[in-house]
Amino acid sequence: MAVLQGRDLIEPLDFSVEELDGLFDLSMRVMDRPGDFAKKCEGKLLATLFYEPSTRTRFSFEAAMLRLGGKVLGFSGEQNSSAAKGESIADTVRTVACYADIAVIRHPKEGSARVAAASADVPVINGGDGGHHHPTQTLTDLLTIRKEKGRLRNLRVGLCGDLKFGRTVHSLIKALARYEGMEFYLISPEELTVPEYVRKDIKGGNGSRCAEVERMQDVLPRLDILYMTRVQKERFFNEEDYVRLKDSYILDAEKMGLASADMIVMHPLPRVNEISTEVDADPRAVYFKQAKNGMYARMALIMALLGADN
Ligand code: NCD
Repeated sequence: MAVLQGRDLIEPLDFSVEELDGLFDLSMRVMDRPGDFAKKCEGKLLATLFYEPSTRTRFSFEAAMLRLGGKVLGFSGEQNSSAAKGESIADTVRTVACYADIAVIRHPKEGSARVAAASADVPVINGGDGGHHHPTQTLTDLLTIRKEKGRLRNLRVGLCGDLKFGRTVHSLIKALARYEGMEFYLISPEELTVPEYVRKDIKGGNGSRCAEVERMQDVLPRLDILYMTRVQKERFFNEEDYVRLKDSYILDAEKMGLASADMIVMHPLPRVNEISTEVDADPRAVYFKQAKNGMYARMALIMALLGADN
């Protein structure tokens, strides 16, 4: 994976399909024999710059680096950094790059990770830039699909919930549209449909087909994958709209009865109300496995960007 050494990961298409395959092969090797990788990043430091709340992304990055024998440092919440004094992202990242070998940034502004990457001479990873992209969640999602469905083509994928502000959806669609035979079913209230640039990504993909619907039940029986999302409260301009839309979809055992026996249910988490906890025991629910896969995907990514994978 020497090709990835020193690179950044800001948007889902920054790596080619072949480069991604290499990363997923490496992730699978780490999953099988974690002990073989326990010293791969000894002496290396990962910086986590989290200007927005996070559980899975930050913890899985930290766990990934620690399990590779490296160390981590960082802040969580901009009140804990000089951003609170008015420092720009560019200056903060440039400084952090003096101390660390690789950095991951999450920030509420779209495009912030791109700015960070331009200011740092170490690899920078986008851990989510506002309602725009979240490419490492996409690594997690693609790895999960490859493991659970055995392929990354000819899939009927339903994406449900907040498709307007949900950055995981934007990144996943962009990444999946590169593969052949994809059918997307975009399930959302009219006010939360995907932004126009995402529709363009589908059209510009590898001949993917797409349908937009409001009722989940209408498409559920034909899906291979149902990707649920949370309504993104923090991106709404007013509370009233959020309250009106937050429970637009609730996946429960009854609705699962409409789905095929081998459909999988994914969710980037955190879940609020959109998947009833009764679904958790259904073997088709893979969202917690997906969260675990995220750590392995990030271990592979860190090794590849640091050139520590051979
Ligand atoms: C997602 C995010 O931050 O965009 N969470 C995550 O990283 N797993 C999804 C969300 O917050 O709804």
